[in-house]
Amino acid sequence: MRSYTRIVGTGAYLPEKVLTNQDLEAMLDTSDEWIRERTGIRERHIVAEGERCSRLAEVASRRALAAADIDPATLDFIVVATTTPDQVFPSTACFLQRRLGIRDCCAFDIVAGCTGFVYALGMIDQFIRTGGIKRALIVGAEILSYIVDWQDRDTAVLFGDGAGAVVVEVGSEPGILSSHLHAEGAYTDILQVPGGVGDRTRNSYIEMRGNELFKVAVTSLSDVVEETLKANGMQKSELDWLVPHQANFRIIQAVARRLKVPLDRVIITVGEHANTSSASIPLAFDLAIRDGRIRRGQTVLMEAFGGGITWGSVLLVY
Ligand SMILES: CC(C)(COP(=O)(O)OP(=O)(O)OC[C@H]1O[C@@H](n2cnc3c(N)ncnc32)[C@H](O)[C@@H]1OP(=O)(O)O)[C@@H](O)C(=O)NCCC(=O)NCCS
Repeated sequence: MRSYTRIVGTGAYLPEKVLTNQDLEAMLDTSDEWIRERTGIRERHIVAEGERCSRLAEVASRRALAAADIDPATLDFIVVATTTPDQVFPSTACFLQRRLGIRDCCAFDIVAGCTGFVYALGMIDQFIRTGGIKRALIVGAEILSYIVDWQDRDTAVLFGDGAGAVVVEVGSEPGILSSHLHAEGAYTDILQVPGGVGDRTRNSYIEMRGNELFKVAVTSLSDVVEETLKANGMQKSELDWLVPHQANFRIIQAVARRLKVPLDRVIITVGEHANTSSASIPLAFDLAIRDGRIRRGQTVLMEAFGGGITWGSVLLVY
C-alpha cells in the first residue's frame, strides 16, 4: 500500500505590533495609496525588540502540535525554513528543539528564500514516503524587519514578521501528491542580502530589483503550476484552493488568472501580513484551516517564489 505524508496539525504566530501604511508614511517618502495599488499590502506585523526567530517558531510549533494533539517528544525531524536565523549557527531548528524541550531528533534549517517552506515540505515528503521517518515538524519563521533597511522605500514597505508551522506524519490516505522544486543561481543578484560571512563591508539589508523580479516570478510560478498539474494528470478545475506565497497581490492575481482559479479560491493574506518570506504559506494555510475555508479531503496547491532565485510547488490533499 502506498504511504503518504499527511498534514495533521497547523499553527501560526504573528507578533502583536502592527505597522500600518500610515505609520510608514510618517517614516518614508511613500503613501498608503502607492503601497496598496502596487502591492495590496495595508499593514504588517513587526517583532518586539530582541525577539528571536526561534521564539516565533516555538509559538507557531506549539500551536501546530496542540492542533495535532501530538507530544513533541515523538518528532523524528524538525526543519526550520528561514532567512533570518537566530545565529549563523547553531541552526534555528536546534534552538527550537531546545525551546520545545525535546532531545535527539534530526534538526536543521533550510535557506531557500521565500520558497523555504515549500522546499522543506517537499524534502520531508521524500523521507516520509520512503519510510525513513514517521513524523516531522516543519516551520517557516522570519524576522524580516531585522534585514530591511527602514530608509529604503523600495523594500521597507514590502515585508513583515511571523511564523507558521505544520506537523506531518505518515498515513495511508492521500496527503502530499507531489512537489516540484527549482532554483536558478543566474539570478542571485535580483533579490539578496549581500553582506554575510567574511565581508563586513557589504550591505546587510535586503536589495531587490523589483521590476525584474516581478516578471520572473509570474513566469516561473505559472510554469511550476502547469508542471504540477501535468505530473498529476489534473485539470485546473480540480483544484479546490491555491495557497500562494504572499509577496504581492498583483503577482498572486496574475498566477490565479493564468490558472483560471477565481480569487475566492485563493487564500490571500498579503494585505494584513505583507511578505513574510518562508512564513507566508504556512501562515495563510493555518488561517484558512482555522476559519473553515480549507477542509479535509480538499485539494490544495501551494506555490512560492523567492531569492536564489528559487521557486516550487506542493500539491496535496488536506
Ligand atoms: C516592488 C514593486 C511593488 C514595485 O512596483 P512597480 O510597479 O514595479 O514600481 P517601480 O519599481 O516601477 O517604481 C515606480 C515608481 O515608484 C517609486 N517607488 C518605489 N517604491 C516606492 C514607495 N514605497 N512609495 C512610493 N513610491 C515608490 C519608484 O521610485 C518609481 O519612481 P520613478 O518612476 O520616479 O522612478 C514591484 O516591482 C514588485 O512587487 N516586485 C516584486 C517584488 C517581490 O515580490 N519581492 C519579493 C519576492 S519573494
